[in-house]
Amino acid sequence: MQPIGVFDSGVGGLTVVRELIRQLPDEDIVYFGDTARLPYGTKSKETVIRFSIENILFLLKHKVKLICIACNTSSSVALPTIKSYFKVPIVGVIAPGVREAVSATRNKCIGVIGTKGTIQSRAYEIQIRQLDPKIKVVSCACPLFVPLVEEGWLKGEVVLKVAKNYLKPIKDARADTLILGCTHYPLLKPLIKTLMTDRVTLIDSAKQVAVEVKKILTHEGMLKRKKNKAKLKFYVTDNPNWFSVLAERFLGKPLKDVRRVNV
Ligand code: DGL
Repeated sequence: MQPIGVFDSGVGGLTVVRELIRQLPDEDIVYFGDTARLPYGTKSKETVIRFSIENILFLLKHKVKLICIACNTSSSVALPTIKSYFKVPIVGVIAPGVREAVSATRNKCIGVIGTKGTIQSRAYEIQIRQLDPKIKVVSCACPLFVPLVEEGWLKGEVVLKVAKNYLKPIKDARADTLILGCTHYPLLKPLIKTLMTDRVTLIDSAKQVAVEVKKILTHEGMLKRKKNKAKLKFYVTDNPNWFSVLAERFLGKPLKDVRRVNV
């Protein structure tokens, strides 16, 4: 009967919550968005590790049975270090996306886009090579995508120019699979699709993360047994109103009850 805990630096992790709700509609969820301290994508490893530990401790106070790190930066930079500190199962977004990409590629060339922190950590590249050392990985940091998505600039001349610029090395390398390695990028899917053409498979980790969470809960016998209405709780560290407005874009429905907390 315990909830699933999810955290992200802000609102983007709601793309993962959306998938969790779709695939595990009965489960209760506690979401924590560290909006006062975002972005994580530009911060140092030490800082992202510290923030991630604090976020996990907050979720543990809510007696969560599993923690899902919906933030790619935190999953790449902090998860490998902090996983062993906790007994609760922790699922990051990197491994599920990597597995999907490795099975999707036909020409063994995968593109990865993410924040500066994610790309500098080389987490995707390392895990892809662990599964198949012959795969070529072309990675590009796309730091302007997060603010553009948060401003709602999902199409138009400006975002198209920015995307063209960022994606050029991946197109030039003829990658046939592209990992959208950041919470915000699934919202840019239509735009990225037009630039990369239909031959390129876009990997959105959110779906695979929910598959992984379901697999663990099923395997561990931790799925919610009582089929009462799922309770969803949302906590943020800064302005709940800003979060509620943006949330609709990521979650597909408006959020009313968002609480502000300190960690
Ligand atoms: N949630 C972050 C990620 O997926 C993007 C936003 C940020 O930089 O905090 O990497």
